[in-house]
Amino acid sequence: MKIKPEEIEIYLDIIKPLMKYEPILKMDSYKQHGQTSCLRHCLAVSFYSFVLCRRLHIRFDTAALIRGAMLHDFFLYDWHKPADSRRWHGFIHPKIALKNAEKHFDLSKRERDIIAKHMWPLTLRFPRFREALIVCLVDKICSVAEMLEAFPGYRFYTTLPAISSNG
Ligand SMILES: [Fe+2]
Ligand SMILES: [Fe+2]
Repeated sequence: MKIKPEEIEIYLDIIKPLMKYEPILKMDSYKQHGQTSCLRHCLAVSFYSFVLCRRLHIRFDTAALIRGAMLHDFFLYDWHKPADSRRWHGFIHPKIALKNAEKHFDLSKRERDIIAKHMWPLTLRFPRFREALIVCLVDKICSVAEMLEAFPGYRFYTTLPAISSNG
């Protein structure tokens, strides 16, 4: 997928303030799928959700989509470790992520919907906004790719230090 320079710019403008926030950076300490941390998974889901919406030429709230996707797995524990694991992680982590996100940020309706519904159909409530439906889909694609360690956004992942350290 060819990414345009102006798309990177739009994305970075929205994501950079979040990437300066310590609790968000903590997500890098927790594995999500394969060798991918929660932080990198959330970055990938937010970036590719944004790119997909652009390619589909649908109207969407850019900031809500990127921010909601970045916070969709903001649960801050290692669900692989028996000591840390939560029973029914797959079902309950959207609620935990939403609670954490609400503690740290003022969220819009769309952002809340993205976080709360991203595990549909495992969690029964269908996404209300198109941004939430896109994130729900891209999350699944990224998760499978990360489990297979064949993620096409590897090159994007290498830009992570630039996102987190540049003003
Ligand atoms: Fe999730
Ligand atoms: Fe996810």
